Amino acid sequence: MAETQHQRLFFALWPDEAVRRQLADYKPLLKGCGGRPVVPENLHITLAFLSSVDSDTRLCMEQAAGAISLPPFTLQLNELGFWPRPQVVWLGTDVPPEPLLSLAAALKQAMLACALEPDERPFQAHLTLMRKARRAPEGEPPAGITWPVSDFALVVSETRPEGVRYEVLRRWDLKSV
Ligand code: 2AM
Repeated sequence: MAETQHQRLFFALWPDEAVRRQLADYKPLLKGCGGRPVVPENLHITLAFLSSVDSDTRLCMEQAAGAISLPPFTLQLNELGFWPRPQVVWLGTDVPPEPLLSLAAALKQAMLACALEPDERPFQAHLTLMRKARRAPEGEPPAGITWPVSDFALVVSETRPEGVRYEVLRRWDLKSV
């Protein structure tokens, strides 16, 4: 019997090129933090981390994602922070939009329905800018980023000799019913 294929998957908000260009403005601030900046093409906001799943579970999650009906929203990335324990420098928002919280909650429910174990910690929208950071960023941060979010994505994570690589597998539009 063929071995079931497993993939390391997560759902994410995936920045478009305009947002990605603005994210580059934060790079100079990371210089004194002592860690490893996330490469520009990998920057994203995780909605739900599935870990390694088989193809049936992936299908279950894709069907659940397709049944989500939520409106587009605008995300203001206006907070720059440092979590010493996971050692990450992140960009976040002081006011998470309601549809974003509903989206993360819906994916958490979907994980339970698909026999996965969602993260028990409450969802904290953040975009990791740097890993293995030792210090908080210093200096005046850029004014912030306005990100119009119109879809969410299923992403596969692959470890390559040159580092981790993410690839968007599928996207679902956010739309009001
Ligand atoms: P992070 O940015 O806060 O580290 C892909 O690994 C994405 O899934 C990362 O953005 C990571 O969030 C998130 N993630 C959440 N839980 C994870 C876990 N247990 N292991 C690896 N990544 C996790």
